[in-house]
Amino acid sequence: MAIRKGKQLEWKHKHLLGLRDLSAEEITYILDTAKGFEEISTRSVKKAPPLRGKVVCNLFFEDSTRTRNSFTLAANRLSADVIEFTKTASSVSKGETLLDTARNLEAMGIDIVVVRDSAAGAPKFLSRNINACVVNAGDGFCEHPTQGLLDVYTIRKFKGSLEGLKIAIVGDIAHSRVARSCMWAMTKLGAEVTFVGPPTLMPAQVDKLPVSVSYSLDEVIEKVDVVNMLRIQFERLGGNPFPSVREYSHYFGLTVERMKKAKPDILVMHPGPINRGLEMESEVADGPNSVILEQVKNGLAVRMAALFLVNQAAAQVQ
Ligand code: CP
Repeated sequence: MAIRKGKQLEWKHKHLLGLRDLSAEEITYILDTAKGFEEISTRSVKKAPPLRGKVVCNLFFEDSTRTRNSFTLAANRLSADVIEFTKTASSVSKGETLLDTARNLEAMGIDIVVVRDSAAGAPKFLSRNINACVVNAGDGFCEHPTQGLLDVYTIRKFKGSLEGLKIAIVGDIAHSRVARSCMWAMTKLGAEVTFVGPPTLMPAQVDKLPVSVSYSLDEVIEKVDVVNMLRIQFERLGGNPFPSVREYSHYFGLTVERMKKAKPDILVMHPGPINRGLEMESEVADGPNSVILEQVKNGLAVRMAALFLVNQAAAQVQ
């Protein structure tokens, strides 16, 4: 929930669990807040005081390079203290539950928990059972809201607006929380989204989602303004959803050859980590249309905004 004061929207969410329930106005508010934070990273002393005296805990039950380090840096830039929790070096290996872990960390005085878990709904569960703010850093196949936000932030930066843009999200949609958060953010901001991939990698009840579906990247690539290539989540695949990686790459890989059909100013995106040679050829990943590292860069400002806003909302309810 967010309410408008005159023209000024007042952020009211103490938790950031997903983008499905946010309005276009609220998503835009986060993006605008992030834009304001970009400047801090250009200073010689890259720090600002909004979270001074606050404690952020990175509670990651799954591996991460981009999201974890980006949240750590974002919290540091806003002057918070940061606790880094890792599953393997914790008492979770002795059988301690998610809730007990979070409650024990909360007893040390943490203010914001950034949680990644393989179970969909884990951040929501925590938000109902602890007092700290909860930010979802990826839960199962459900949502990865800060990834969706940094993706639309990046598109907005290059294209000005998402209104009327045609966007393809390609690959392992079924197992992708990124696809879901991107779909919500992109469609709410006015883009037309097409999920592209083999039928075996489409989510159940895809017809109920606000997207088109295509099983041919060749048919879609020439029409879109943005192509967001997803990682094949080998760790989540139950069986073999395609005959071979070679065949997958042949039909759904973003190759130099396929890029010849694309619009000259198409944005090539990938949330990372990339399986080079499978989802896209290296020449494309590192080519002139790729904004993959720009996505990572923008993630910092977006996560600063997320931490800042949930903390601000928590302060209002105290
Ligand atoms: N995009 C993303 O979530 O990457 P990490 O798994 O490295 O955090």
